[in-house]
Amino acid sequence: MKNIIISPSILNSDFLHLEDEIQKIITAGGSWLHLDVMDGDFVPNISVGNLFLERISPSINLIKDVHIMISKPIIHIEKFAKAGADYLTFHYEACKDNEEINQIIDLIHSYGMKAGLSIKPNTLVEEIFPFLDKLDIALIMSVEPGEGGQKFIEDSLTRISSLKHEIRKRNAETLISVDGGINDKTAPLCIQSGADILVVGSYLFNSQDFVSNYKKLLK
Ligand code: DX5
Ligand code: ZN
Repeated sequence: MKNIIISPSILNSDFLHLEDEIQKIITAGGSWLHLDVMDGDFVPNISVGNLFLERISPSINLIKDVHIMISKPIIHIEKFAKAGADYLTFHYEACKDNEEINQIIDLIHSYGMKAGLSIKPNTLVEEIFPFLDKLDIALIMSVEPGEGGQKFIEDSLTRISSLKHEIRKRNAETLISVDGGINDKTAPLCIQSGADILVVGSYLFNSQDFVSNYKKLLK
């Protein structure tokens, strides 16, 4: 079986006990952490930002998978590099045109980070095909971005399959990440459709048994 990456989103974790919450990822055998950055403009909510990441980053020995749901991503890339992001994923819908998207991908790479591009549920998956050859991650939002705990949009599965098909056709190495509404029922469906990375928030952090739920995702 191929290697599936679980990237736990701490959006729904207990911020007052963040150290314990992060320890759960390590105890479960995880090596990634997903950080959701929201600006109250691109999405309605405001979460945490680059300074939060910069404060916690030195003490966290996990791959920092940062998802920026913000307007004008181009002006914030350097800050997230400085803050310690390993992967930086921005939104297709937040960009002016394809030229700007190419510029941002190059900028992310120039700071030594891996680059991801995300699409909201109503954006055609074909829109990101032109960037696949240089993207490290293509992230399919399987809920409307903006908050955790929403229901998985079933239609995402066909989007994952078409993306996988295109990646194979191009012989590209882009990993497909799926974010939103992932649990033990939807995880296997995403994996069958071609997902490589599963971003999981409430199913892990709102549960009584993080480790057991983490394992159920990979069954
Ligand atoms: C939503 C975020 C997600 C979210 C996932 O906008 O991008 O990462 O935290 O949470 P769940 O798994 O609860 O849908
Ligand atoms: Zn996310």
